[in-house]
Amino acid sequence: METWQRRIVAMIFLALTCARSVSAVRILVGGKERWNPNVNYTEWSSNQHFYVGYWLYFVYDRRYYSVLEVNRTDYESCSTDHVIRNITHKAGRDVVQLNESRTYYFISGGGYCWSNMKLSVLVENNPPPPPPAPAPTENGSPPSRSLCRILATVVAWTSLVFYILI
Ligand SMILES: *[C@@H]1O[C@H](CO)[C@@H](O)[C@H](O)[C@H]1NC(C)=O
Ligand SMILES: *[C@@H]1O[C@H](CO)[C@@H](O)[C@H](O)[C@H]1NC(C)=O
Ligand SMILES: *[C@@H]1O[C@H](CO)[C@@H](O)[C@H](O)[C@H]1NC(C)=O
Ligand SMILES: *[C@@H]1O[C@H](CO)[C@@H](O)[C@H](O)[C@H]1NC(C)=O
Repeated sequence: METWQRRIVAMIFLALTCARSVSAVRILVGGKERWNPNVNYTEWSSNQHFYVGYWLYFVYDRRYYSVLEVNRTDYESCSTDHVIRNITHKAGRDVVQLNESRTYYFISGGGYCWSNMKLSVLVENNPPPPPPAPAPTENGSPPSRSLCRILATVVAWTSLVFYILI
């Protein structure tokens, strides 16, 4: 491929990456600790922001743990008697979308809630107008949103120019 062709491919690739990061923020629960016993998820979540539309990504050993959505009472008492939603579908790699502005409560079954496998997240309505630092995703930070917007514009114009020329 010639240099200009390579540049265009690179630009399209970046634009696609951008589109993905803007439309779907996926937060790896626990960061590098993942979903495991003896992690302080209260501390972990207090360092994050959760907005409506974000996804939580739980990665864990499916032989022992699970992900159950419960209400506040059951979160506090580690009870699995009235599970609201059992998120354990793909066994070990489960996602859940936070589509309402409220506090969500998740615990693990199997008694591991007693070893601190319990997470509460306060989901806020919308990111404040000046874009905040991009939320961490599985592989670190996505490209910043303003950079994405500039890129999208450049790609749109480039495509238009090529369309006219060819
Ligand atoms: C987890 O961290 C929070 C905030 O730092 C602290 O208040 C709490 O005592 C910790 N919980 C445990 C079980 O260590
Ligand atoms: C959670 O559900 C249980 C059982 O339905 C109920 O007794 C309890 O009041 C609920 N707690 C909250 C905070 O809604
Ligand atoms: C949740 O779903 C998993 C996988 O289907 C199942 O093994 C587990 O028993 C369920 N737990 C509860 C509390 O419903
Ligand atoms: C949120 O998602 C759940 C399950 O994915 C769905 O049942 C519910 O209707 C959704 N709520 C909103 C406000 O979109």
